[in-house]
Amino acid sequence: MTNTQAPTPEAILQIGLGFWGSKALLSAVELGVFTVLAERPLTSKQLMSRLGLQARGTVDWLDALVSLGLLARSGDEYANSTNAELFLDRNNPSYVGGILEMANARLYPFWGSLTDALRTGQPQNEAKMGEDFFAALYQDRDRLRQFMHAMTGLSMGAANAIAEQFPWGRYHTVVDIGAAEGCVPVQLALRHPHLSGGGFDLPAVGSIFDEYVASFGLGDRLRFYPGDFFADPLPAADVLVMGHILHDWNLDEKHILLRKAYEALPDGGALIVFESIIDDDRRTNSFGLLMSVNMLIETPGGFDYSGADCRAWMAEVGFSHSHVEPLVGPDSMVVGIK
Ligand SMILES: C[S@@+](CC[C@H](N)C(=O)[O-])C[C@H]1O[C@@H](n2cnc3c(N)ncnc32)[C@H](O)[C@@H]1O
Repeated sequence: MTNTQAPTPEAILQIGLGFWGSKALLSAVELGVFTVLAERPLTSKQLMSRLGLQARGTVDWLDALVSLGLLARSGDEYANSTNAELFLDRNNPSYVGGILEMANARLYPFWGSLTDALRTGQPQNEAKMGEDFFAALYQDRDRLRQFMHAMTGLSMGAANAIAEQFPWGRYHTVVDIGAAEGCVPVQLALRHPHLSGGGFDLPAVGSIFDEYVASFGLGDRLRFYPGDFFADPLPAADVLVMGHILHDWNLDEKHILLRKAYEALPDGGALIVFESIIDDDRRTNSFGLLMSVNMLIETPGGFDYSGADCRAWMAEVGFSHSHVEPLVGPDSMVVGIK
């Protein structure tokens, strides 16, 4: 059969103007639309008065959010869609808007300089102005807590899949390296009562980790290990986890971190590396490939990588077996066995 349909530019235009929908959502999160509508449905006039917005364009923006499946409209009242109610109401524990707030405040303007990044190979974030976003973040506990919570929004799906898929029955202790507030160890400990361990991260993260772990009543099984993963040895455990860690660093630094994990594991111990691992043929995981471009914008040397890349690095530092396993969405884990 021949394809008689003439090609159209629709898909190209959708990608090219994709930032319209993206920014419509990011501004809605910034303005708190979904949090306000979680209280009760409101008309456009009520929403404008509540959010301090004028009329021109606002109804079009609200109806665009309806057409994108983020809001529902009944009569002249707007309400959250089911997904928005669950994931975009700031007062809901399943809120994932933290990462979108950061995307709106930082990544959206920085990606405007992607062409410069490609020409120069230089980061386009605060570093371009001589500022250090992360150094400032670690000095401000409230902002650090928000950032660490945004990481939980990003990693919750993968944490649940790792809790389900990995053969935890064979192991007793687990430490998450670069754990942030502890999303992964908490999900593992909730699902597997025989597991204990904790999270390793920079000292400034300790009280935020402890608070999050205590909110699940897991303080007796999960503890915080303060340290710098380049300056200090990693804590010993049957299983070590590195989620969204390796992609921040250049190839030499990736090697150092993998070697340190290998040294901290017992024989038979496992390292689980997870993030949006790129497919080996580098054709299909757009999210993983674009995440790697995001590392160009955000870091001096970071990049994402394929499962085959990670397995080769694991073999170089001494891991005897490794395999790649899909988790959820664009995320996979690479498991290395010592
Ligand atoms: C992108 S976040 C990933 C958080 C978590 N693993 C996840 O996947 O949701 C990177 C984490 O690495 C930590 N980190 C960065 N540099 C570090 C270092 N030198 N030593 C220890 N932890 C570090 C950060 O504090 C942060 O919690």
